[in-house]
Amino acid sequence: MTEERGGKGSLAGGGKPRRWLVTGSGGMLGCDLVAALGGSSDGVTALSRKELDVTDEVAVAAALADSRPDVVVNCAAWTAVDDAESHEDEALAVNGAGAANVAAAIAAGSAAPGCRLVHLSTDYVFAGDAAAPYAEDDAPAPRSAYGRTKLAGEQAVRELLPQAGYVVRTAWLYGAHGPNFVATMIRLERERPTVDVVADQRGQPTWTADVARQVIALARSEAPAGVYHATSSGVATWFDLAREVFLLLGADPDRVRATTTDAFPRPAPRPAYSVLGHDAWSAVGLQPIGDWRLSLRSAFPALVQELP
Ligand SMILES: NC(=O)c1ccc[n+]([C@@H]2O[C@H](COP(=O)([O-])OP(=O)(O)OC[C@H]3O[C@@H](n4cnc5c(N)ncnc54)[C@H](OP(=O)(O)O)[C@@H]3O)[C@@H](O)[C@H]2O)c1
Repeated sequence: MTEERGGKGSLAGGGKPRRWLVTGSGGMLGCDLVAALGGSSDGVTALSRKELDVTDEVAVAAALADSRPDVVVNCAAWTAVDDAESHEDEALAVNGAGAANVAAAIAAGSAAPGCRLVHLSTDYVFAGDAAAPYAEDDAPAPRSAYGRTKLAGEQAVRELLPQAGYVVRTAWLYGAHGPNFVATMIRLERERPTVDVVADQRGQPTWTADVARQVIALARSEAPAGVYHATSSGVATWFDLAREVFLLLGADPDRVRATTTDAFPRPAPRPAYSVLGHDAWSAVGLQPIGDWRLSLRSAFPALVQELP
């Protein structure tokens, strides 16, 4: 999908961003970001994987030179966490080298002067064994191939664009435009009398539309380059989230039964504690995303409607 809507100008002129380029625009977050930008007068170039493969260095530079964006949001990613264990080189090509290609093209001046890059990353860069929320500047220690490749992308963005590179880590995403845990639970509620869900992993269920709003607010702000955590507040287990989905469907939440991570062996290790701190937002005068239950309630009608 390629979309073009009006809007010209650049951050170099001291104004707000007027032209955006979104890579990976066909993904779950990319779709919501393009939709959120569509409501503004800004120009949006939305490039799905078919239209721009971020592993193609020449194509990336050409796409930026063509649309001269003030902001690039890199939503392109290899997100198959388990497959990355056996295909780490391919995942690294997208998550590491792909991110570097985008950052390098901006650093080389292919985009508008002063162009910023917002690059999406993940809680999987952390070890996931903490007992308190991970701060933005805590030391990463990924335990999976996916986490290692995403960390490589973060490092490339920060090295190549120290003044204009924004790393936005998110986690436990659900949305109307891609496979996700909430959609799976809505389906399973219809299909099964009971569902077993792990109750020993903690995180922050996060709506893609909330992340899209955070990304836009960040790129429009005067916030300095660096790392920001775009997850809901509050903490839940997958079991808590599944029960909340059943409640919102009007179903008996006791049909969700607690189980353990060990009962569901997966190729990639799952973090037991994936809770991210949000201090960087308030330090730059922006509100973090609110409580996960409130967001789920707002998102729910659209999520149910999207399912067959
Ligand atoms: N989903 C989550 O729970 C979660 C959690 C933490 C962080 N994140 C991060 O959030 C961001 C957005 O994730 P998402 O959930 O929207 O993922 P998604 O739905 O898988 O979207 C990623 C998009 O990138 C595209 N893509 C893959 N390889 C590409 C390439 N070489 N060039 C250009 N595009 C390519 C994919 O296209 P195809 O579908 O055609 O392959 C897909 O449309 C990613 O950076 C991800 O790491 C996600």
